[in-house]
Amino acid sequence: MTLISKLAIAASLATALTSVSIAQENLKGLTIGFSQIGSESGWRAAETSVTKQQAEALGIDLKFADAQQKQENQIKAIRGFIAQGVDAILVAPVVATGWEDVLTEAKEAEIPVMLLDRGVDAPEDLYLTSVASDQVLEGRVAGEWLVKEVGDADCNVVELQGTVGSTPAINRKKGFEEAIAGHANIVIAQSQTGDFTRAKGKEVMEAFIKSSNNGADICAVYAHNDDMAVGAIQAIKDAGLKPGTDIKVVSIDAVPDIFAAMAAGEANATVELTPDMAGPAFAALSAYLADGTEPEKFIITESKLYTPADDPQGEYDRRKGLGY
Ligand code: AHR
Repeated sequence: MTLISKLAIAASLATALTSVSIAQENLKGLTIGFSQIGSESGWRAAETSVTKQQAEALGIDLKFADAQQKQENQIKAIRGFIAQGVDAILVAPVVATGWEDVLTEAKEAEIPVMLLDRGVDAPEDLYLTSVASDQVLEGRVAGEWLVKEVGDADCNVVELQGTVGSTPAINRKKGFEEAIAGHANIVIAQSQTGDFTRAKGKEVMEAFIKSSNNGADICAVYAHNDDMAVGAIQAIKDAGLKPGTDIKVVSIDAVPDIFAAMAAGEANATVELTPDMAGPAFAALSAYLADGTEPEKFIITESKLYTPADDPQGEYDRRKGLGY
């Protein structure tokens, strides 16, 4: 890719995905550590791109650490940031538990920590703010869509869960179950983790299909993210069935590939998760550093439902090239 096209993508990323104004002058020159989970999904890749672009636009020296899905790597990276004396730390925590010690170390070093896209089971005073979606709501939106879609018809759902122990896996399951409660015709027949990856989503869906009369007993797949849904779509096609018709597909993230599948009639619904978690976090940090303004402890992003009625081809065109 040429430098010009890289710059063009950077500019479009900053304008298309930045929800806060890039006017936080007091962040210029700061060093901020970012402990990212890894690159398990298209959504995660976009979050990484957006965060790097925003840091660059704000004049922040961003120290990026990819944890390759391992909490121990995240803890090591955070300890490294503390030792370097960074000005603040961003963390996308892979799982919910096991953070108290390292967050306490950051607090003792007076380094503000901001959580991105996932929560932790730790005292709230150990982090400045948490920017994330309402993940229970995401599950509920997906479940409510299915309730409407199937009406009174019987529907066996197979569920592809996210990473075991992560807050989106726990909460998206909970929200979906809440939405279908009271609708005895809708049953979660099988549920297993696909670890938020396309490959695992496909593999687990193949097993679900095999154990369900070659898929004839499955009415819908609910995937905790679009990448697993895309993997499941492939498994459904490989079994000689039509995704979107023989087996309905509902998931979460709103990445370009799910809109491509929707445009082809192979996916039915997705719930949008913005990859712009860093924008609100940087704005909160800026205000905090300026005059001690305590941000909201939980900054909640929007969870919008998209279906084939929402111009999937247009959504694909709008998002592709934005870092997904
Ligand atoms: O925490 C957000 C989730 O993590 C996204 O939905 C998923 O794609 C990612 O891996």
